[in-house]
Amino acid sequence: MIKNSVDLLYKLLFTVLAGVILKWLYDKRRRNRDDAAFAALHGCQPPQCEYKHRWPWALDLIKEHVATVLTDHALMLQVEFTESMGITFAAYMFGLTGYFTSDPRNIKAITETRFQDMNLGVRRPACYPFFGEGIFTQDGPAWKHSREMLRRQFARVQARDLETFTDQVENLVSTFQDSKGVVDLQPAFFRFTLATTTTLLFGESIETLPETEQSDFAKHFDSATLVTAIRLPLAHLSFLYNTPSYRKSCRVVKHYADYFIDKAFKYAQDHGQEDATGRYPFIFDLYTEYQDRSLVRDQLVNVLLAGRDTTACTMSWTIFHLVRHPAMLRRLREEIYEVTGSETVVTRAHTKNMPYLNAVLNETLRLYPQVPMNTRSTVRTTLLPKGGGPDGESPVYVPKNAGITFSPYHMHRRKELFGEDAHDYKPERWLDGKLTGIGCAYIPFLHGFRTCLGKDFALSEASYALVRLLQAYPNLRIPPGTGVVPTGKEKQMLSLVVSSLEGCKVVLDGVEVGSNVRPM
Ligand code: HEM
Repeated sequence: MIKNSVDLLYKLLFTVLAGVILKWLYDKRRRNRDDAAFAALHGCQPPQCEYKHRWPWALDLIKEHVATVLTDHALMLQVEFTESMGITFAAYMFGLTGYFTSDPRNIKAITETRFQDMNLGVRRPACYPFFGEGIFTQDGPAWKHSREMLRRQFARVQARDLETFTDQVENLVSTFQDSKGVVDLQPAFFRFTLATTTTLLFGESIETLPETEQSDFAKHFDSATLVTAIRLPLAHLSFLYNTPSYRKSCRVVKHYADYFIDKAFKYAQDHGQEDATGRYPFIFDLYTEYQDRSLVRDQLVNVLLAGRDTTACTMSWTIFHLVRHPAMLRRLREEIYEVTGSETVVTRAHTKNMPYLNAVLNETLRLYPQVPMNTRSTVRTTLLPKGGGPDGESPVYVPKNAGITFSPYHMHRRKELFGEDAHDYKPERWLDGKLTGIGCAYIPFLHGFRTCLGKDFALSEASYALVRLLQAYPNLRIPPGTGVVPTGKEKQMLSLVVSSLEGCKVVLDGVEVGSNVRPM
């Protein structure tokens, strides 16, 4: 009796297993047939370039990638590698296909015309411990909902003039009032953008905390950001890098965000909801939608991440290059003096009338896009419009579950797009109108559906701060004896953003803050 039951169980198991395998084979065959029909229908051709791996599963490519990321020139090496491969190429890793592209026509497809065929892929698991449930880890309806809510908040900020930045800009400027000798501006830019972004999100600056707590927050924020940046290229294996100290840093950052949310709720209790919503609009607008404090917190942490390092690094690279190009620095000073005269409160009307300042920021963001590499994963069979066939002009078929990496850092340095001097820092290229129709070849704030919501905020705060720094420090210059290396060959630190490993060292020779000295 027992023997019969066991036999029956084995037969049943065998039948189920055989059924599963047959179904899998059938689905696979059907998928291959459908995919072949899709490729034929769209005239797809095999990729013009393919990475020929030497080790199984392209482990050699992964090893080289990890070795590159650990250097001070990761992006420079990546540009060299990409140039040697081609504008669009495929690599077969772990039995999956990965595509790499720096072709603006493909970028348009990824960000706009074939947006629905892709999602964030490995970004969600890699970033989840830190980012939680927020706009940067979401896809589909959840992302749409987040974007709509946040868009309302940014529209509110965009409708105002720049006075929200005045206090923090003046704090930044006065930091160096009595400075003597060489000063590194980069850490100060990080403090500045942390203050502006926390004011935007939490209704008050992180600087309202005691000094020790501010440094505690910044330390854990930096360390969680760095580990998250290392987890990203580990893709599906990111769960392997989840140390106790990483978990602690994520917890500490969230704890501080919770602290500010609690403070806003206490304020509402003491002063009434209307008053509190006026003072803490970001927090209460999100809460009205979510009715869940942890979701509000995650969303705030997401925007904080988006806002702090990106803008600080943009400011830092701008000054880094201006002091290395005295004629450009002088031209910018003259423009600032022309437009602002003796005024030190900067307005939108001022910055709109500063084409050279805008060109300088465009050029910094071209050479140092603060999301230098980006990835997507396909959720259905799709295509990249270019990169296939012998001339690379045919579409390339891309199967479901394939990874697509695109590199604004590489694309922005392509000579075919920006000219022979593409690797040089040259704001003037933005002034003659020739780059007006550049479209998806220039995407520091991305393009299409997921385009940056904080663009106006970032450019406004950076412009305001740069204008005031140049007004207040007419002697700002490169420290004597600094070795100057060609653009792109500087030592860089690649985390989620790209910063200067050697900071932004300058001599300021403090003058009276508040003055606006005519350039000599
Ligand atoms: C120079 C500074 C900045 C640069 C270069 C930049 C760049 C970008 C890029 C490339 C993306 C798309 C990322 C992706 O999902 O693939 C993005 C998204 C975003 N950025 Fe920015 N950003 C900057 C500053 C800011 C600031 C200051 C804020 C807010 C205070 C902000 C808020 C956002 C948000 C909320 C998104 C998500 C949009 C979405 O997924 O729908 N950004 N940014």
